[in-house]
Amino acid sequence: MKLFTAASLLVAVEGAAISSFQNALQSVLSVGQSRSNTPPNILLVITDDQDLELDSVAYTPHITRRIRDKGTFFRNHFVTTALCCPSRVSLWTGRQAHNTNVTDVHPPYGGYPKFVDRGFNENFLPVWLQEAGYNTYYTGKLFNAHTVENYHSPHVNGFNGSDFLLDPYTYSYLNSTYQRNQDPPRTTFFVTVAPVAPHSNVEPDVLGNVPIMTAPIPLARHRHLFEDVTVPRTENFNPDEPSGVSWIRNLPQQNQTVVDYNDHFYRSRLRALQGVDELVDSLVSRLEESDMLDNTYIIYTSDNGFHIGQHRLPPGKTCGYEEDIRVPLFIRGPGIPEGSVQDAVTTHIDLAPTIFDIAGIAPRSDFDGTAIPVTSSFSGPRHEHVTVEYWGRGVVEGDFSAIGPGGLPLFPNNTYKSVRLLGEGYNLYYSVWCNNEHELYDLSTDPYQLHNLYPTHMHRGDDESETQILGRSLSRAISRLDALLLVLKSCQGVTCIRPWSVLQPQDSVRSFRDALDEDFDSFYGEQPRVSFDWCDAGYVLEAEGPQVPLTSRYGLSWDVWV
Ligand SMILES: *[C@@H]1O[C@H](CO)[C@@H](O)[C@H](O)[C@H]1NC(C)=O
Ligand SMILES: *[C@@H]1O[C@H](CO)[C@@H](O)[C@H](O)[C@H]1NC(C)=O
Ligand SMILES: *[C@@H]1O[C@H](CO)[C@@H](O)[C@H](O)[C@H]1NC(C)=O
Ligand SMILES: *[C@@H]1O[C@H](CO)[C@@H](O)[C@H](O)[C@H]1NC(C)=O
Ligand SMILES: *[C@@H]1O[C@H](CO)[C@@H](O)[C@H](O)[C@H]1NC(C)=O
Repeated sequence: MKLFTAASLLVAVEGAAISSFQNALQSVLSVGQSRSNTPPNILLVITDDQDLELDSVAYTPHITRRIRDKGTFFRNHFVTTALCCPSRVSLWTGRQAHNTNVTDVHPPYGGYPKFVDRGFNENFLPVWLQEAGYNTYYTGKLFNAHTVENYHSPHVNGFNGSDFLLDPYTYSYLNSTYQRNQDPPRTTFFVTVAPVAPHSNVEPDVLGNVPIMTAPIPLARHRHLFEDVTVPRTENFNPDEPSGVSWIRNLPQQNQTVVDYNDHFYRSRLRALQGVDELVDSLVSRLEESDMLDNTYIIYTSDNGFHIGQHRLPPGKTCGYEEDIRVPLFIRGPGIPEGSVQDAVTTHIDLAPTIFDIAGIAPRSDFDGTAIPVTSSFSGPRHEHVTVEYWGRGVVEGDFSAIGPGGLPLFPNNTYKSVRLLGEGYNLYYSVWCNNEHELYDLSTDPYQLHNLYPTHMHRGDDESETQILGRSLSRAISRLDALLLVLKSCQGVTCIRPWSVLQPQDSVRSFRDALDEDFDSFYGEQPRVSFDWCDAGYVLEAEGPQVPLTSRYGLSWDVWV
């Protein structure tokens, strides 16, 4: 094992990443097996902090031409925790963060050491794929707190070849540090390429150990692109009225200096993404030249989204809003329709089951997600909900010392549980914060999440409010959303996919719409409510209020029996 430093991240991506990949391909070719009998190859590209909502995918023509137009765009794809390490661990294990308990980027609640402590180094996607006969390769950032100090204690399992970016230099665009391990590969492979663009640049040691996150640093040849581009001025961009709850509601409106900086930050992200765009182009070219493209699935996504200025927020993620939880997902490969767009609700915890499905491996019972219908022949269970969870600080990015004294603070108590729900005739986001504030947005009328519908005084029965959801009063709708969230926040395996059957095992309730039936009003009215006893920085069960919902064992006659 040898540490080496590349002159720049994007050079490293173009150099090291491609050469690992090229070695993998060359060995594959040298084996010269007939492709017809081999399972498909899988190439997974995971960018870092790439948004869907801020339109970043409009600036990557190669990715559009090579993957999106040749495959399917899953436009309702969500992460379940909007922070790198928890989101990646969920992706790699197929579990919600409450089932990994890797909820942060650093110990004690997260990071690579926590991933190892929880036993996942023996039990995650590359290990399972190797067991199924795949050769597995990785290049780029794997997890946070995977460092120049701890990379060998223990080494990451499951990869035949790897080239990891290590902390504290992971996001140091001009001093990225890779750690390489190369073995000779053969036959089918699974390769992950995980560049850090367009994540912020992190200077590890400035300000005496407090890292500063500056705008990403593009390749010199991309530095002058998009000079006239600004953050899309959607309704929720730096709005006149505050929005959201908790610390977000208290943010001041940004002045022109801050808005200008945010636009610069946005352009820097798009410029940094150009390196990824070129990388993807060359990856696909190599597959093509090697005659392997036809037997390879290519999955393109990001670990979480990003906001810049929406709800007056400085650059960052960690929130539950659309900007943070929606990420691009393009998949191309054998049997996948070209140029199609899918509306199915999909999440990052569905990706491991999807890769299993593609590889022809039977799903694991500890998967909290379900395979995404990548080809029309697929008919597995679907879901209309996304369970969004977050513990700890709201993190602010950007070098605000350039604007004002002292930069911007971190925001504690950014702990919340949410459910994002997209069904026929409804499009909702419901969240409960650790200080027991609530949010409810009807995205069909309020796509930018500016009008919190959650009533100041919550009734248990029907309320006076004129706002209705699917013809039911807000409080009736909320009783269902809350019960759903109560199940989802501690679901495991199949209960994460079929939460209504936990609540109403005997009834044919499959969706929020079904559950809204007035026959169930008293059942849902009696449910314990999702709440917190205090705000904690991690998944501390004692702080997290009721865990178990009432269950309707007797179908419609529940009230009679109780
Ligand atoms: C660059 O990274 C190396 C480790 O790869 C480290 O030893 C060195 O101090 C870093 N340089 C700077 C300027 O941070
Ligand atoms: C990849 O690693 C697996 C697990 O250690 C091993 O069985 C397989 O032979 C390796 N493949 C190659 C090409 O070395
Ligand atoms: C703009 O806002 C920043 C951050 O609040 C502040 O530090 C700075 O002084 C303001 N600039 C002007 C010109 O008002
Ligand atoms: C955060 O939550 C803790 C525990 O609930 C509370 O004591 C503290 O005052 C809160 N801090 C802020 C800044 O709201
Ligand atoms: C999650 O990990 C933290 C830190 O080790 C621990 O305090 C907490 O009890 C764990 N939560 C659960 C539900 O096991």
